[in-house]
Amino acid sequence: MKSSTKFPVDWCRAQFPALKRVVAGQPVAFFDGPGGSQVPQRVIDAVGHYLAHTNANRGGQYATARESDALLESAHATMAEFLGTPNPESIVFGANMTTLTFALSRAISKSWKPGDEIIVTRLDHDGNVTPWVLAARDAGATVHYVDFHKSDCTLDLQDFSSKLSPRTRFVAIGCASNIVGTVNPVGEMCRQAHAVGAQVFLDAVHYAPHSLPDVTGWDCDFLACSAYKFFGPHIGVLWGRPALLKSLTPYKLRPVTESLPGRWMTGTQNFEGIAGAKAAVDYLDDLGRQIGPATASFRDSLRTAFSAIGDYERHLVSALLTGLEAIPQIKILGLRDRNRLNERTPTVSFTHERLTAIEIADRLGQLGLFVGHGNFYALQVTEAFGLEPQGVVRVGLMHYNTHSEVDRILVALRSY
Ligand SMILES: Cc1ncc(COP(=O)(O)O)c(C=O)c1O
Repeated sequence: MKSSTKFPVDWCRAQFPALKRVVAGQPVAFFDGPGGSQVPQRVIDAVGHYLAHTNANRGGQYATARESDALLESAHATMAEFLGTPNPESIVFGANMTTLTFALSRAISKSWKPGDEIIVTRLDHDGNVTPWVLAARDAGATVHYVDFHKSDCTLDLQDFSSKLSPRTRFVAIGCASNIVGTVNPVGEMCRQAHAVGAQVFLDAVHYAPHSLPDVTGWDCDFLACSAYKFFGPHIGVLWGRPALLKSLTPYKLRPVTESLPGRWMTGTQNFEGIAGAKAAVDYLDDLGRQIGPATASFRDSLRTAFSAIGDYERHLVSALLTGLEAIPQIKILGLRDRNRLNERTPTVSFTHERLTAIEIADRLGQLGLFVGHGNFYALQVTEAFGLEPQGVVRVGLMHYNTHSEVDRILVALRSY
């Protein structure tokens, strides 16, 4: 692992106004990024600027409508760079990952029939499980669930391979688990699924704030993520292979265009949210240029940013794991092997021998240490550990967190 000393954390932190908040005389440490990240000032400015200066619907013969059209075009191009596709028209903006996934599942499952098989995993957020399970139920298709190893919360890849067959139509996999942080080998899983003729949908919601998505390299068929997890506003993004997005028939209103991406972007769009999502990716590009060459291509600059984010976050999570492991009352779920930190995000969940998750979250919250608690819709993980309904405490680190914030939470946890 490279040294984290060069990571410009002060530059990053200066961009995020929320980090100035104080609770009980202490600056707030935001450890609930997996529930929703904080946003840099330029995202706030982009949302405000849109509403103040270019607010309009599309297609009008006047300045603000033209500016809205231009904004959409450039946001599609920026998001295409972020997801690793040369096709801006294959980017679909929508309410959030869940809503986009339900829309896709209704369209895709029209051709499923009894005897067809669908694969989901037990490690996933329910947003990448229930849309497919309900669609399969309506079509009479069979659903298989891929298990995970409880020892380290990695996906059981043998179980995955054994469930693939020529009957498999569709596979839904998470790029990374939002409760235990496991990063799945999605490129290899796509290869195996395609070998039996199945299509693959990837949920990159938890992955995207920590690593750069790569729809071309992974060779997936669809991918969804949410800008509010990667430093943008509350808006979802769906990508699909252009040929598939064209051949599927979404539920949509009659006058809507048949061309991409319009046929998938139903209703009036959240233009200000789209402006903010673009600004979030521009922030990451700027971070890349703080670290690497100012002349790099957009995608290369994003690569530089995420490589540095990954190095820095691995240092942070290593310190967090070491501190948590030294507290006898705490039991960590998930991968702890320091040589395999590239197989996890810096999202760590744990239970306490005596205190419930909500009690810990409440105590920490009073100290300005904001953590998540519960199951975070990764219901099958908490069920597998017998942790329903109380769930776990989740400390989700982001690149704007610091070693001293990690020290602060460890000091607090040691005193419980
Ligand atoms: C891994 C993962 N998938 C899906 C979702 C659902 O995303 P959205 O809130 O955009 O519907 C979440 C939200 O927490 C998530 O963490």
